[in-house]
Amino acid sequence: MNNKEKIRTWKQKKDVVILAHYYVDGAVQEIADFVGDSYALAKKASEVTQNNILFAGVSFMGESAKLLNPKKRVYMAEPSAGCPMADMVTAEQVRSMRMRHPNAAVVCYVNSSAQVKAESDVCVTSSNAVQVVQKLKEKEICFIPDSHLAHFVAQALPEKQFIYHDGYCPTHQEISLEMLQKAKREHPDAHVLSHPECAKDILEQSDYVGSTADIIRFARESEAKEYIIATETGVFHQLEKENPGKAFYPVLPLQICPDMKKITPEKVAYVLEHLEAQPQILLEEQIMERAKRPLERMLQLARA
Ligand code: 13P
Ligand code: SF4
Repeated sequence: MNNKEKIRTWKQKKDVVILAHYYVDGAVQEIADFVGDSYALAKKASEVTQNNILFAGVSFMGESAKLLNPKKRVYMAEPSAGCPMADMVTAEQVRSMRMRHPNAAVVCYVNSSAQVKAESDVCVTSSNAVQVVQKLKEKEICFIPDSHLAHFVAQALPEKQFIYHDGYCPTHQEISLEMLQKAKREHPDAHVLSHPECAKDILEQSDYVGSTADIIRFARESEAKEYIIATETGVFHQLEKENPGKAFYPVLPLQICPDMKKITPEKVAYVLEHLEAQPQILLEEQIMERAKRPLERMLQLARA
């Protein structure tokens, strides 16, 4: 049996579904049952019927899966894969923000810990943030932790007043205007597609801004033949697979999230083979109760 066949057999025997984010290596995406952006993965995790979820992504994604489907056992392909942006905000900081802005809604990017979610009113992902925030009755919005996504949403919703946190994604922060201009000179006909975790000057120079799934959809539906992609290069796997006649260029030679890239097909296979001995995502009962509410509210507002 080759690795792929072994994985298929173990998945069936052990009743496991493999969920993967678009930023993991293409070889991992190929062995997953479902690949998506953070929103699609959260939705999928809330609906799966298998008893075990194996997550090829970073820790907040596994926590969200557990919060949305608490009866399932959730395992991480690489338990040490975290999100540095999620670590930039603490529950204590959220409590203090609330004291200073008692009339504001606390809107929490899904890239955050369960403890931070437990202090928040609603979660958002990059694909639904504008839609969800627009539906909130509060005029004042404390948006945590990503300041770039917060500014992107604020620009779309001038009727709201934003209070910003100073979090950012180190991978997207690296994408500089100077390098984007260089890429544009090298590929003058290319459309620029960016993730809203990029800085404002990058977004202003972009033809389209959206989540990883939105970028993939845009490239599929657009007539253009060339694209400069300002997000983690894991998305190139789907972009190139779906669009054989189109060319995709990164802004930087290395646009990678080191945590997402810790996940390999070998690690997925190992966790699957030794599933019973692997650590599960476990959260305190009280945190579970409070942290699932903003996530469920997001799913409800994003669907409506
Ligand atoms: P999306 O999956 O919403 O595109 O977000 C990207 C990201 O940084 C996930 O960590
Ligand atoms: Fe976190 Fe950035 Fe990696 Fe996404 S790409 S998981 S935001 S560090």
